[in-house]
Amino acid sequence: MLAELLRKAARSPSGGNVQPWKIYVVNGESMDRFQAFIAERDIEEPGYDIYPPGLWEPHRTTRFELGEQMYALLGIERDDRAGRIERMMDNYGFFGAPAAIFCFLDRRMLPPQWSDCGMFLQTLMLLCEEAGLATCPQEIWTNRSQAVTDFVGAPEELMLFCGMAIGHKDEDHPVNTLRSERLPLESFAHWI
Ligand SMILES: Cc1cc2nc3c(=O)[nH]c(=O)nc-3n(C[C@H](O)[C@H](O)[C@H](O)COP(=O)(O)O)c2cc1C
Repeated sequence: MLAELLRKAARSPSGGNVQPWKIYVVNGESMDRFQAFIAERDIEEPGYDIYPPGLWEPHRTTRFELGEQMYALLGIERDDRAGRIERMMDNYGFFGAPAAIFCFLDRRMLPPQWSDCGMFLQTLMLLCEEAGLATCPQEIWTNRSQAVTDFVGAPEELMLFCGMAIGHKDEDHPVNTLRSERLPLESFAHWI
């Protein structure tokens, strides 16, 4: 099923049809091995900055509010630092999902090819949704990119962009009731 979804996702457009995405799939037995492997590895220096330093408005607030909405649903208070860190660490267990992919691309690729990878990932997420699967893209894995690289055996010229948890949505989990907000059309679209 995953192979078919990935094959279809590769119909995503990419500038010049460069197709920069390099995907490593972890599931079943390799997921068990991966979990044991990653538990022995420390958090690293990130492979890239996830957000620009000093993120500005309105993005700073949308990011902040999403976190607050999520922690409120989970009953984790603002001053519960340990609870928040614990929740963040759930990322590294793929939130319990049985399968995952890691998306790499060649370090020599440029912003347009990173964007192409985003399109690939979005297409894959939509195809998963159609197939009854749920996903969570995870750039947090850049904080463990060497460990992931070592585990999957990716060549050093490849750089990890993100992981993606793939599994079945837990309909009863409060976090899955979160409907993230969006800025109004007028704030990002300009009619000239
Ligand atoms: C490239 C990318 C990386 C992301 N990384 C993470 C992550 O590391 N952990 C996480 O919990 N969510 C991650 N997300 C999920 C976003 O926080 C989420 O998509 C966003 O808040 C909008 O919410 P929605 O997808 O429910 O509409 C990521 C999303 C994208 C597109």
